[in-house]
Amino acid sequence: MKFHVLTLFPEMVENAVHTSITGRALKNGTLSLHTVNIRDFSDNKHMRVDDYPYGGGAGMVMQPEPVFQAWKSVACPDHAGRGKKPRCIYLTPQGIVLNQTMVEEFAMEEELILLCGHYEGIDERVLEEVVTDYVSIGDYVLTGGELAACVFIDAVSRFVPGVLSNEESSQFESMQDHLLEYPHYTRPEAWHDRKVPEVLLQGDHRKIQAWRQEQSVERTRQRRPDLLEKNRQATAAFFSPTGGTRRAVEIFTEFLTQNPRYLDLGRRKLRKEKWKFSSGDFLVAAAPVYGGQLPDIQEPLFSNLHGEKTPCVIMAAYGNRHYDDTLAQMQYRLEEQGFICIGAIAPVIPHIYSDILGKGRPDEKDIRIIRKFAVEIKKRLETGEQYGFTSVKVPGNPLPAPKQMKPVEKSFDRARCTKCQVCVQRCPVNAISQETLQIREDRCLNCMSCVKVCKAGARGYDCSQVADYLEKNYSVPKEIQFF
Ligand code: ADE
Repeated sequence: MKFHVLTLFPEMVENAVHTSITGRALKNGTLSLHTVNIRDFSDNKHMRVDDYPYGGGAGMVMQPEPVFQAWKSVACPDHAGRGKKPRCIYLTPQGIVLNQTMVEEFAMEEELILLCGHYEGIDERVLEEVVTDYVSIGDYVLTGGELAACVFIDAVSRFVPGVLSNEESSQFESMQDHLLEYPHYTRPEAWHDRKVPEVLLQGDHRKIQAWRQEQSVERTRQRRPDLLEKNRQATAAFFSPTGGTRRAVEIFTEFLTQNPRYLDLGRRKLRKEKWKFSSGDFLVAAAPVYGGQLPDIQEPLFSNLHGEKTPCVIMAAYGNRHYDDTLAQMQYRLEEQGFICIGAIAPVIPHIYSDILGKGRPDEKDIRIIRKFAVEIKKRLETGEQYGFTSVKVPGNPLPAPKQMKPVEKSFDRARCTKCQVCVQRCPVNAISQETLQIREDRCLNCMSCVKVCKAGARGYDCSQVADYLEKNYSVPKEIQFF
């Protein structure tokens, strides 16, 4: 990540950023800092860059031309790519107050230009031409933007891969999930008659984790009750017979929250239970695409989930052909049941009938897109909390006619079968007879979970014809779409 800082006091920024963790990151090249002295672009022999304000009043105003020339010296046209104006952040108490979601979003840019003002401010006309974001670091006034720029760089850098070591990027820290961090202790065990809490000395990691979570909530309740209101329990309810959807939903959910709850709807027992969600919860619903639709099972998928104007995100994971009506179907179903779909995503996952389609997906690039989507969802949650949630628009028919899918040819080698019954237990739709181990085709989803779980290799399938067709027509990797 490269920071360009336009300032009248470059040494102030250089000194701060070259110190400690950001200093180490500058040395090892994960960060780069380029300060530009606006005074170098003065057009007079006294090197002045400020002048009296039109209309009178106290203080001086920074002139537009030196600021513009300083900006131009770093804002090369291809800097942001695709002809976009490069992201230029003006640090000002009149900006949006910086928070962790904004920090995470800025960290996804490759380069940022920070503009620091001084005196009474900067001529409005150049701000209109170059600034893309107005950011404040808090409701108080500093003598200039430099310290704010340093705070900004420090906070953003922590999200840049490689800046923090594994130890430093602790799994649970202040401000993630709108909870404050639990208290920390180190040696000695007793200090000034104060003892380290007993639970931390016993080495029971489950207990320690539970205690820390409790402390976190309690501390937030006491010190920042305003944050606690924003803390939502996120549940990811997914149907994933062969694990592709599960992987995609886990990647997304873990970018979103440190403390997710997973609900595996492939387990018949969990589908029979009724799950209720309040308006303070958050749901992620994920399913694979079968023939352009949701898998068609007896009790429709997600029908056991009930919201109360609960915000949710839907995910339709597909094997690089198309998601067709799946997102629309999911949205319709969930909104009928009290959820508000604030976002939707269609990631590509390995196709169950082809070794080529969706191979290795989600890959690195996908993960970056999924992360971008997660940050976008955090922003929508924050905006929704203030102004109410709005339902997203997705393509497709919400009530498509059920599709008759041609069953895949399956084989069963009884001689190899060890009668372990795993296929029976793991079949998400109870399509395998416990007694005969025969597949009931009227129920079978052709999800191939039975083949995947059979350690003895007794079950197989032949889908070479479908695979040929798919590989001929859909081999070009699709990019993840989100709404
Ligand atoms: N410049 C002066 N005060 C500031 C603040 N609070 N945030 C960002 N930039 C500033």
